[in-house]
Amino acid sequence: MYRTHNCGELRTAHIGQEVTLAGWVQRSKDLGGITFLDLRDRYGITQLAFNMDEQPELCQQARKLGREFVIQATGKVIERSSKNTKIPTGEIEIIVTTLTVLNAAKLPPFTIEDDTDGGDELRMQYRYLDMRRNPVQQKLRLRNQVALETRKYMDSQGFWDVETPYLIKSTPEGARDFVVPSRMNQGEFYALPQSPQTFKQLLMVSGFDRYYQIVKCFRDEDLRADRQPEFTQIDCEMAFVEQEDILNMFEGLIKHLFSTVRGVIFEGDFPRMTYAEAMEKYGSDKPDIRFGMEFASLNALTQNKGFQVFDDAEAVIGIAVPGAAEYTRKQLDELTEWVKRPQIGAKGLVYVKCNADGTFKSSVDKFYSEADLKTWAEATGAQAGDLIFVLSGGLDKARKQMNELRLHMGTQLGLRNPDVFKPLWVLDFPLLEWDEEHNRFHAMHHPFTSPKPEDMHLIDSNPGIVRANAYDLAVNGVELGGGSIRIHDRDLQARMFELLGFTPEQAQAQFGFLMNAFEFGAPPHGGLAFGLDRLVATMGGSDSIRDYIAFPKNNSGRDTMIDAPSAIDDAQLKELGLK
Ligand code: AMO
Repeated sequence: MYRTHNCGELRTAHIGQEVTLAGWVQRSKDLGGITFLDLRDRYGITQLAFNMDEQPELCQQARKLGREFVIQATGKVIERSSKNTKIPTGEIEIIVTTLTVLNAAKLPPFTIEDDTDGGDELRMQYRYLDMRRNPVQQKLRLRNQVALETRKYMDSQGFWDVETPYLIKSTPEGARDFVVPSRMNQGEFYALPQSPQTFKQLLMVSGFDRYYQIVKCFRDEDLRADRQPEFTQIDCEMAFVEQEDILNMFEGLIKHLFSTVRGVIFEGDFPRMTYAEAMEKYGSDKPDIRFGMEFASLNALTQNKGFQVFDDAEAVIGIAVPGAAEYTRKQLDELTEWVKRPQIGAKGLVYVKCNADGTFKSSVDKFYSEADLKTWAEATGAQAGDLIFVLSGGLDKARKQMNELRLHMGTQLGLRNPDVFKPLWVLDFPLLEWDEEHNRFHAMHHPFTSPKPEDMHLIDSNPGIVRANAYDLAVNGVELGGGSIRIHDRDLQARMFELLGFTPEQAQAQFGFLMNAFEFGAPPHGGLAFGLDRLVATMGGSDSIRDYIAFPKNNSGRDTMIDAPSAIDDAQLKELGLK
C-alpha cells in the first residue's frame, strides 16, 4: 500500500496515529534543527517534519529533496506548535520515521503553487505540470461535477446517451470542416462533425424520443477566448415537442446544474426576449443583462440641427452610463480612442455630461442646445451625474460598436460581477442571414431549422424576414447554447436547401440520407446543444474556456505540448494517396 491517507485528510483527531503519505514535494524549509517539507497531492498539502537531533540521517536525506520529487513518508501525526489556519491540515504535522524517494524530478520550469511565475506559453508547453496546481485542478473538478450532474438530470428525464460517429460527412454549422483522408477510399475524405446534428435527428426518426450526448465537436474557425477548434457539447434532441417543451426541459437542466454545483438558485422562469428586441436594446443576440445601459434611438432627436454626421447616419444610438459625468477629459479621450481602434471601427464618440446641477455639457454643444440635450437624457434615461455616449452610422455597425462600448463601460464600472448570473432566452432568430460577400443567404442557425409557421407565407416573397423557431440561452453575455425546432418534412427541407443556393442534385448528394429518412415517418422534433466548456467557464466566473479544458489548443490552433499539428512522413502520405 503506497499510502494510508491522502495529503488533505489528516486532522487533530488523527494525532498519535502512524500514517503513510505519498505525493510531491512542493517546498522545503530548513530551520537548522528541523526541516519541514510540504507534501502535496490532489487532496491537499500536509507538512512533514524531520528532526536533526533525533534522526540526523533522515533529516539530511530530506534536505536533499528538490521540488516535485515524488516521495513516500511514514511517521506519526502530532499537533503543530505553530498552526497554519490557511489549510485544512494546518493543525497537524507528521514526524517522519521512514522516507522513500519514489521518483526524482528535474527542476520544474515554473513554480508549481497556486500563484505561479510561469507565463501562459510555458505553462501550456508543460501543461501536465501546470495541472498539478490546485487552481487548475479545481477548474477541472468543476467541469467533472457539471458533466456528472448533467448525466444525472438527463437520466432522470428519460434521455438516452447514444454515441454518434466522428468520421462523417460534412455538416454545415457555419464553420470549416476538419477533414480526414481515407486510406481505404483513396482520394476521399471524412469530415469531423461540427456537431452531431444530422445524427441526432436520425435518432428521432428511429424513435429514440429523447437523446443526449456529451460529445466532442470540431470546427476549423478563428479562435478566441470562448472558442476552441475542438470543444464539447451537451447535445440534446427530443421528439414530439414544441419550442416551449424544449425551453422548459433545458431551463430545468441549467437550474439543476447551478443549484447542485454552485448553490445558485434561480427564482422563477428565465426572462425571454426576441432577437429583434435584443438587437434593438443591446445590439447583441446575447445581451449581458447584469446591468442596464439600454440603447435609445436618438435619430428623431438629432436631425436637422446642422450636425452632418448625425443627419447622414442611418442610426444614432445613445446609452446612459451611470455616475460617469465626472469623467475627465483624459478618460473621455481614451474612450474615444478605444472605439476608434480597428477592432471596433467607430469614427468618433459623442458625449454629453449630465451635470449634478441639471446643466449639460457635450462635445457637440455647437449644434445642440441644452433643451436638445435634455431630450437625449430623457430618451436614454440619463439622470443628473450620468454620462451619455452617442454613436452613429449604419444600423448594424452602430449597434455592434455600441454593444462593445456598453460592455466595456459595464466592465469599467464593475457592473459585471462574475458571481452574479443572469440567464436570458433569446427567441425568434431570423431563419436566414444575407451574406454580402457571396451574395447569398446562409442559415442563421443551421439548414435544418424550421421557419415559424406564421411566417411561412413569406418564404418565397421575402425570405430575409422569415423568423425561425430557433432559440439561444445567453448567461452574462455568453451564448451558452442554442437550438431549434427542426424541419421534418422532405419538401420543406428541399425548399430550404434551394433557398441556401443548393441545386436539387447538390442537396441530394450531400443530405439525401436525411431527406430520404424524412420519407419514412419522421416525427416532429427539436433540440438544442450547450457548449460545455463555456458553461463551465461561466459557472467558474471566467471568460476563457481554455482554463477549463485539460489539454487546450493555443490561438493558432496548436498544442505546443505535443507539438501538433505536425508534418507526416512520405510513407504515410503515400499510403493515403496524398501528395
Ligand atoms: P451551435 O453551433 O449554436 O449549435 O453550438 C452550440 C453551442 O456550442 C458552443 N460552441 C463552442 N464552444 C467552444 N468553441 C467553439 N468553437 C464553439 N462553437 C460552438 C456554444 C454554442 O452555443 N447542432 C446545433 C445545436 C442544435 O441545433 O441543437 C449546434 O451545434 O456554446
